Amino acid sequence: MLRVGVMVSGGGTNLQAILDAMENGTVTNARVEVVISNNPGAYALERARNHGIEAVCLSPKTFDSREAFHEAFLKKVDEYDLDLIVLAGFLVTIPEAMIQKYRNKIINIHPSLIPSFCGVGYYGLKVHEAALKRGVKLTGATVHFVDEGMDSGPIILQKAVEVLPGDTPEILQRRVMEEAEWKILPQAIHMIANKEL
Ligand code: GAR
Repeated sequence: MLRVGVMVSGGGTNLQAILDAMENGTVTNARVEVVISNNPGAYALERARNHGIEAVCLSPKTFDSREAFHEAFLKKVDEYDLDLIVLAGFLVTIPEAMIQKYRNKIINIHPSLIPSFCGVGYYGLKVHEAALKRGVKLTGATVHFVDEGMDSGPIILQKAVEVLPGDTPEILQRRVMEEAEWKILPQAIHMIANKEL
């Protein structure tokens, strides 16, 4: 059984998709051991508790320095003996020590077709604003391994989504989530858990 930790910062719809897929058997051989958020107000924490999963908040704001936060974050993650760390809308940069220790064991979902609209400054709604501004007709989502760069690690899965006339960033964000993110993130976990990668 793959021991999974999910890192979140916000609403947690991707976390929900993972939990639902585990419950309905779409994802097998994997279990979420802990959900960790940097944001005490993240609804994702509530979603975890609703499923009887340990929900932990570690806010950088409560630490004296970034280094102290990084140290506590790594220590907390280590406690759960995780095989896979899933960044599901986690908007904190992963400390280098954690990337080294968990190499090829951290995956991230990004709401565009990497290498478009990714890297520093591209997160959440900003990604979809940029896609609409550029006028692309296709966008999508990407699941990739996390390395030292920003959205630069090896790509695991991608799924394209059409941009439609009249789209706002919010409408496009929702379509990318529904048609791509909520499918390929659970699928990537299933593939890793079942050694299909
Ligand atoms: C998702 O769209 C995810 O792809 C994005 O944040 C959202 C979180 O939503 N992540 C990034 O932009 C990372 N660069 P959720 O909390 O409802 O899953």
